[in-house]
Amino acid sequence: MFAKAVVLAGVLLGFANVARCEPPFNNPPGVDVWCGKAYRETDSSFDPGGWLEPPSSNGTLGLMLNVVPRYNFYLDMELEGSFVVDTRAVGSGSSGYLDGYNGSSTNLLLTVWNANVTLLSNVSVSVNASGIEVPFDLNLARTGGESFQVEGRSSHGGQTYISTVSITWLPERDDGGSMARLDRLNGGIHISSSMTSGNWKSIFPVGFYTRWDWISWLIDPENNPEPDNLASNETKSLQEFKEQGYNLVHPVPPGGWESFNDTVFEKFLTICDELELYVMYDMRHTYLNLSSISTQLPRLQSHPSLLLYYTGDEPDGWTDPLNGTILAYNRIREIDPYHPVSLVLNCYNFYFEEYTSGADIILEDTYPLIKSSTFSTVYNTVCNQTYGDCGCDFCHVNNTAYPEFEGLPFKDVVDRTDNFYQFQRWIGQKETKPVWGVPQWFYDADSFWSRWATKEEAVVMALLRVNHGAMGVVGWIFPTSPEIQAATTEMAGVLTSEDVTRLLTEGTGKHLTPSYGADDIDAAAWVWEDEILVIAIWPKYTSGGRVCIPLPTEGKDVSDIEVLLGVAWSADGGTLCREEIQPLEVSVLRAKIGGY
Ligand SMILES: *[C@@H]1O[C@H](CO)[C@@H](O)[C@H](O)[C@H]1NC(C)=O
Ligand SMILES: *[C@@H]1O[C@H](CO)[C@@H](O)[C@H](O)[C@H]1NC(C)=O
Ligand SMILES: *[C@@H]1O[C@H](CO)[C@@H](O)[C@H](O)[C@H]1NC(C)=O
Ligand SMILES: *[C@@H]1O[C@H](CO)[C@@H](O)[C@H](O)[C@H]1NC(C)=O
Ligand SMILES: *[C@@H]1O[C@H](CO)[C@@H](O)[C@H](O)[C@H]1NC(C)=O
Ligand SMILES: *[C@@H]1O[C@H](CO)[C@@H](O)[C@H](O)[C@H]1NC(C)=O
Ligand SMILES: *[C@@H]1O[C@H](CO)[C@@H](O)[C@H](O)[C@H]1NC(C)=O
Ligand SMILES: *[C@@H]1O[C@H](CO)[C@@H](O)[C@H](O)[C@H]1NC(C)=O
Ligand SMILES: *[C@@H]1O[C@H](CO)[C@@H](O)[C@H](O)[C@H]1NC(C)=O
Ligand SMILES: *[C@@H]1O[C@H](CO)[C@@H](O)[C@H](O)[C@H]1NC(C)=O
Ligand SMILES: *[C@@H]1O[C@H](CO)[C@@H](O)[C@H](O)[C@H]1NC(C)=O
Repeated sequence: MFAKAVVLAGVLLGFANVARCEPPFNNPPGVDVWCGKAYRETDSSFDPGGWLEPPSSNGTLGLMLNVVPRYNFYLDMELEGSFVVDTRAVGSGSSGYLDGYNGSSTNLLLTVWNANVTLLSNVSVSVNASGIEVPFDLNLARTGGESFQVEGRSSHGGQTYISTVSITWLPERDDGGSMARLDRLNGGIHISSSMTSGNWKSIFPVGFYTRWDWISWLIDPENNPEPDNLASNETKSLQEFKEQGYNLVHPVPPGGWESFNDTVFEKFLTICDELELYVMYDMRHTYLNLSSISTQLPRLQSHPSLLLYYTGDEPDGWTDPLNGTILAYNRIREIDPYHPVSLVLNCYNFYFEEYTSGADIILEDTYPLIKSSTFSTVYNTVCNQTYGDCGCDFCHVNNTAYPEFEGLPFKDVVDRTDNFYQFQRWIGQKETKPVWGVPQWFYDADSFWSRWATKEEAVVMALLRVNHGAMGVVGWIFPTSPEIQAATTEMAGVLTSEDVTRLLTEGTGKHLTPSYGADDIDAAAWVWEDEILVIAIWPKYTSGGRVCIPLPTEGKDVSDIEVLLGVAWSADGGTLCREEIQPLEVSVLRAKIGGY
C-alpha cells in the first residue's frame, strides 16, 4: 500500500502516508489492489466485482415518477418552495406505459398530500420529461410535516404512478457560519452568509486542491520546512490566488489523525472569510474515524468561507470499507446539516452505489495524459478491465481495441462524467448528485503520467467536463506549472464571473449537435431569460474544417456576441459557424437572444 501512495501523490508532495487500519475487503490475502484489481506482476488477474450494470428491462415500458424539493433544505422563514419533477420513460416495449400515449402529447395529473394538508392537486405535467419545476406553498407544507405522498394519474385514466417526497427545514444560523445548499433543478450550489449579506448566492466553484505546506508558508514563512521548494512561486498570498479568478481552495491535509495544524488552519480560514474564498474541507486521512470528525468539525462552524466537506479521496481505489463513506456522512450530518459532503472516485466502475451513498457531490479524477492505457510502465503489467494500474482506470486513450477513441484523447474524461450521471439513473436514485471534475493540472515524472498538460489541454480538460454537466472544477494540484496556472487563471476568471455563473447555475444547459461538420465538436449552451452562453471545444490535435451549430433559441436570432474566452464564431440567425476549427480550440461566448 505504501508504494501505491508514493506513486499516486505522496512523497513527491511531502505527504505522510497513513497506514489503513482496515484491510481491503475483497482481495486475496497479500494481493495489492487498486480499484479492486491486482496490479503487481507477481499476482494474477481476478474479477474484482462491484461492477454496476444497467437495470434489466422486463419488456414493459414504464414511467418513473420522481419528485424532489428544489433545494436539499429550506429555512424556517422561507415562504416559496418548488418541486422538481421527472416523468422519464423507463424500460422498453410499447405496452403498459400510459393509455392514449401516442408519442407526443399526454400529461400526468400530479397530487401531493399527506394526512394534514394537500400541497398540489391535479397539476398537469408532461410525460417523459425531466426538470419540471412546480411551485408549492412552503408555509402550508411546513404546517403539514416533512413527508408527503405523490400520485401521478394519466389524464386518459388507466395508469397511476406513486412516489413520496420529503422536505427538510432548518433554522437560520446565528453563529456567523455559512449555509450551503444544493439546487436540484440545475445542479448548482447556493450559499448564504455574512459575506453574501444573508442572500442566497450561486457559486460555480473553480479552484485547486492546494498543498498545505504552501498555504502554511504563505500564512507564516517560518512554517515552511523547505523554503527553497516554494520560494519561487509567483503567487505570494491567498489574496493573489483569489485575484487570479479562483473562488475555491481545497487544502490537502498533510496526514495523520491530527489533520491540519489548528492554529494555522484558523488563520487560514479567517483570511478566506475576508477574501470570500470558499473552502473545501478535506478529511481524507480521518473520515473513517468518526470521533476525529467530531473533533474537527466544530472549529470550522463559524466560518462563512466553509462551502463543503470532502471525505474519501479515491476510497474506491484504496478499497476503503464500503460502509465508510455513509458512516462518515451520517456523523457529519449530526454535527452540521448546512454543508454538502463530497468525495472523489478514481475507478471506472467499482462499487459506485456504495461509495457514493455517503456523498451529496461526486468528483471524478480521470487523468488521461498517461504513458499508456494498455501497459503499466510503473508495474510492468498489462492494464484491462480486471488487471493492472495505468493511472487512469479502464481508460482507452490511444487503445486501438477501442476505435471510437481514435484521435479523441479526452474521451475518457467525457465518458467518466457522463457515466457518473448515468450510474445514478441506473440505481434509481431520487436526487441527482452533481458531478464535479478534477482536471490533470499536475505532473509526477516518476509515475504513470507522460508530461505536464499544455495550456490548451489544461483548459480543454476542464471545459469538456462543464459541457457534460460538471458543476465545479477542482484541479490537482496547486502550485502547478506556470503555463497551467496562466491558462486556468484566465478560464477561472470567466467561469466565476457573475454573468457566466448565473447562466451556468440558473440556466437550462443543453448539449448541442452540429448541423454541419464533424460530430466531434463538443458544444453546449445554457439559456437564461434572453441570454445564452455557449461553450464549444474541438477536442482533437488535428484541425477540423468548417463546423456549424444551431443554438436552442427557438428560431430566434442571436446578437451582441461577446467572446469571453478563446476565438469568435460567426452568427447566421440562430446558428454559429466556424470556418476552420483549430486543434484544441475553445470558445466561451455569451449572446443575446432576439432583440437588437
Ligand atoms: C416492468 O418495468 C417497468 C419499467 O421499469 C415498471 O414500471 C413495471 O412496474 C415493471 N413491471 C413488473 C411486473 O415488474
Ligand atoms: C397524439 O394525440 C394528440 C392529442 O390527442 C394529437 O393532437 C396528436 O396529433 C397525436 N399524435 C400522433 C402522432 O398521433
Ligand atoms: C383530481 O381530478 C379527479 C378527476 O379527474 C378528481 O376525481 C379528484 O378529486 C381530483 N383531485 C383533487 C385533489 O382535486
Ligand atoms: C423519452 O424521451 C427520450 C429522450 O428525450 C426519447 O429518446 C424516448 O424515445 C422517449 N420515450 C418515449 C416512450 O417517448
Ligand atoms: C401532521 O402534523 C403533525 C403536527 O402538526 C405531525 O406530528 C404529523 O407528523 C403530521 N403528519 C404527517 C403525515 O406528516
Ligand atoms: C502549529 O503551528 C504553530 C506555528 O504556527 C506552532 O507554534 C505549533 O507548535 C503547531 N502546533 C502543532 C500541534 O504542531
Ligand atoms: C481517532 O481520532 C482520535 C482523534 O480525534 C484519536 O484520538 C484516535 O486515536 C483515532 N482512532 C484511531 C483508531 O486511530
Ligand atoms: C462497516 O463494515 C465493516 C466491514 O468492512 C464492519 O466490520 C463494520 O462492522 C461495519 N460498521 C457498521 C457500523 O456497520
Ligand atoms: C496518444 O497519442 C498521442 C498522439 O500520438 C500522443 O501525443 C499521446 O501521448 C498518446 N497518449 C497516450 C496515453 O498514449
Ligand atoms: C486482463 O489481463 C490479464 C493478464 O493478461 C488476463 O489474465 C485477464 O484475462 C484480462 N482480463 C480481461 C477482462 O481481459
Ligand atoms: C511553484 O513551486 C514548485 C516547487 O518548486 C514548482 O514545481 C512550480 O512550478 C512553481 N509554480 C510556479 C507557478 O512557478
